[in-house]
Amino acid sequence: TRVEYLDYEVIVDRGWSIDDEDLFGKAADADLPDVDYGRLLVEPDESLLEAAENRGFAWPFSCRGGACANCAVYLVEGELSQPANIILSEAQSDRGFRLSCNGYPLSDELRVVFNVKHLPELDELRL
Ligand code: FES
Repeated sequence: TRVEYLDYEVIVDRGWSIDDEDLFGKAADADLPDVDYGRLLVEPDESLLEAAENRGFAWPFSCRGGACANCAVYLVEGELSQPANIILSEAQSDRGFRLSCNGYPLSDELRVVFNVKHLPELDELRL
């Protein structure tokens, strides 16, 4: 699965919105370093978080068990499975939030905003 990723901090710094339909177009044009924006491949046995780590990135996490939401990502395109989730509400899942620590791609392409734990909508979940 091919993943295009973007750090939420960039969105905050630049005054962008996660709901901007051209978010990834803007990111592609912004000449951002690999840690902030780019593409990576997820192998079939990797969770999204593991794939990022195995490519040398340090995406946030804590429990690795679906209970803290530190690893949360916002799904702009594609689908991630969620075998363990005891922290995100149904409304938050419907809105597009997933846990990268146990999120396995269900589509060939994904677009995700990672590091969204400080997004106001998720802030109340922070432990
Ligand atoms: Fe805690 Fe993913 S690291 S829910």
